[in-house]
Amino acid sequence: MIPSIRGTRDILPAEVGRWQRVEGVARDLCARYGYAEVRTPVIEREELFAKGTGESTDIVQKEMYAFTDKGGDRITLRPEATPSMVRSFVEHALEQELPCAKLYSLGPMFRYERPQKGRYRQFDQIGAECFGMSGPDIDAELLLMCARLWQKLGISDGVSLELNSLGTAESRATYKEALVEYLSKVKDELDEDSQRRLTTNPLRILDSKVPGTVKLLEDAPLLRDYIDDESRQHLEGLCQILDEAGIAYTINPFIVRGLDYYNRTVFEWITDSLGAQGTICGGGRYDSLVEQIGGKPTPGVGFAMGMDRIALMMESNFNFSAEADVYVASIGQASRQAALLIAEDIRTVFPNLRTIVHCGDGKFKAQLKRANLTEAKVALIVGENEFRTNLPLNSAVALYVHKTHLG
Ligand code: HAM
Repeated sequence: MIPSIRGTRDILPAEVGRWQRVEGVARDLCARYGYAEVRTPVIEREELFAKGTGESTDIVQKEMYAFTDKGGDRITLRPEATPSMVRSFVEHALEQELPCAKLYSLGPMFRYERPQKGRYRQFDQIGAECFGMSGPDIDAELLLMCARLWQKLGISDGVSLELNSLGTAESRATYKEALVEYLSKVKDELDEDSQRRLTTNPLRILDSKVPGTVKLLEDAPLLRDYIDDESRQHLEGLCQILDEAGIAYTINPFIVRGLDYYNRTVFEWITDSLGAQGTICGGGRYDSLVEQIGGKPTPGVGFAMGMDRIALMMESNFNFSAEADVYVASIGQASRQAALLIAEDIRTVFPNLRTIVHCGDGKFKAQLKRANLTEAKVALIVGENEFRTNLPLNSAVALYVHKTHLG
């Protein structure tokens, strides 16, 4: 047996219903909020993420599945979708084509991380991005859309929203200096990762979960004391809308996000039910990214949610529906074909019924056992006699079955 690769997994039939439900509800919701789907390639140029996600991020430095292809180009499996969606938006001048520049996307991402429950090397995201809108109203709408999704999936009680503002690039740079100055004094007490980040990406130290570092951070300067007035007003505007809409949140000054492109609003939806990998959705504003990737200066904001984590959360509250409504069994080799055609008729007359016909070999008893397993409400048995009389109207049989047994 050749096993699957570490950090990847098969979504088995018993789980796949949950995935389809999350995907279905999310797609429906995105469409209702005016988002158009875009499907971008799984492979992109490495430089897209070096420029977009950021050279100094863990994702680009340590986690990309990057390689040189046979033509000599540096390629990577995408570690996230935002730079790809921005590239697509710019490359196809979508701002001219779409009535509102709101896009969503769904698919697998790849990061060479240490696998554990809720953290995989191939994982799926559903992401939404909005271009050209700079006010807090669109930030709020994205969060309202997430809240509605949790509600529709029945997981609202288990999730909470944490918000922060990163200010502008300038205010962040000033803050970064103050943070580095403070942390340099206690450098020896920081954990190894944070010591490395002190020179590469100091803001990420704020994300640290290492107890000693967390303790040191208690007295660190706070980003909110450095952000500019406009960013402060933006955050206040967002909070006001969330308050009016009845969406609970907390402001968490330690949320900085692990990607370089953010400014102003950043947020995470968190759950306690998944252990260490408790962030089910993250996002924020990225007002310089479009320009950085070669487009006209255009503000942007969006989020991505981790399908794997949401599917895990739904494990306890999702009931599988029966696999079939009607199971068509047959007695004797000769009736097999009639059974197949009757099943086709049932599918034509009642497209909403799930009909399974027994194919292949199988003793009658074994067929009924399988019918039982599918939890079919009706087992339709085509016997030798029925076959010989050459049923005049198969759909009439179906109608009869439906009326008498399925209502
Ligand atoms: P991110 O925080 O890197 O943001 O990922 C978003 C979500 O993807 C996480 O909150 C988590 O649920 C899920 N996720 C990330 N890594 C893994 C993993 N290794 N295994 C399982 N799930 C994972 C982004 O990707 C940004 N592009 C979000 C964004 C969109 N910001 C603006 N627009």
